Amino acid sequence: MKMKFKFAALFAGLLLIESPAMAEESLVEAMFTPLRQKEINPVNNKQYKDECGSCHFAYQPGLLPSKSWEKLLNEKALADHFGENAELDREVLAPIYDFVMANAADKSYYKRARKITNSTEGLEAPLRITEVRYIKRKHHEIPERMIKGNKDVKSLSYCDACHTQADKGIFDEDTVRIPNFPDWED
Ligand code: HEC
Ligand code: HEC
Repeated sequence: MKMKFKFAALFAGLLLIESPAMAEESLVEAMFTPLRQKEINPVNNKQYKDECGSCHFAYQPGLLPSKSWEKLLNEKALADHFGENAELDREVLAPIYDFVMANAADKSYYKRARKITNSTEGLEAPLRITEVRYIKRKHHEIPERMIKGNKDVKSLSYCDACHTQADKGIFDEDTVRIPNFPDWED
C-alpha cells in the first residue's frame, strides 16, 4: 500500500516536472474525460485562437489530417485563403504551424479525429473540413434552406452556428441547434 502510494506520488511528480503544461493538460483530459476523448482535442493555444479565430471559430487541428494543414498553413496559401487574405508574419506562423501539426487528426487519439483520419486516408488532402467524407456524410440530410438559405448560418463552414459547444471541441448531435429551425428534427 505504502509502496503504491509512493509510486503514484512519484509518477504525479514526474508528470508535473517533465511535461510542458499543455501536454499534461491533454493527458489528464484523455484519462479522465471520456466525453472529450470521444470528441475532438480542444484548442489550448492562445496564439492560434487569436489568429485563426477572428473570421470563423478556431477550428480544432484534429478536424483535418496534417497533409491538409500543410497545404493550408504556408505563406502562399494564406495570402489567398478561400478568397481572403489571412497572411501571418513568419514568426507568428511558425509556432501556429507547429501547434497545428502536433495536434492534427492523424496525431490525435480522440475518436472523431480518428474517424477523420480514416476517411481521408489514401485520398488527396482535402482543403476543407466540410469536404471530408465523414463530415459530409453527417450533414447530407440537412436541407440547404437551413444552411445557405439561413442568414444565421450562411455555410456549413460555420460549425459553431449550429454546434453550441464547437469551441470546446464537442460536436455530439445532442448539442446541435439550428438557428431559426427549432424543430429541424421533425
Ligand atoms: C481574414 C479572415 C480569415 C482568417 C484570419 C482565417 N480564415 Fe480560415 N477561412 C476564412 C473564410 C472566408 C473561409 C471560407 C468560409 C466559407 O466557405 O464559408 C475559411 C475557411 C477555413 C477552413 C475550411 C473550413 C471548411 O469549410 O471546412 C479552414 C480549415 C480554415 N479556414 C483555417 C484557418 C486557419 C488555421 C487560420 C489561421 C491561420 C484561418 N483559417 C484564418 C477566413 C479566414
Ligand atoms: C446547419 C447547422 C450545422 C453546421 C453549420 C454544422 N453542423 Fe455538424 N451537424 C449538424 C446536425 C443537425 C448534425 C446531426 C445530424 C444527425 O442527426 O445525425 C451534425 C452532426 C455533426 C457531427 C456528428 C455528431 C454525432 O453525434 O454523430 C459532427 C462530427 C459534426 N456535425 C461536425 C461539424 C463540423 C466540424 C462543422 C463545421 C465544419 C459542422 N458540423 C457544421 C448541423 C450542423
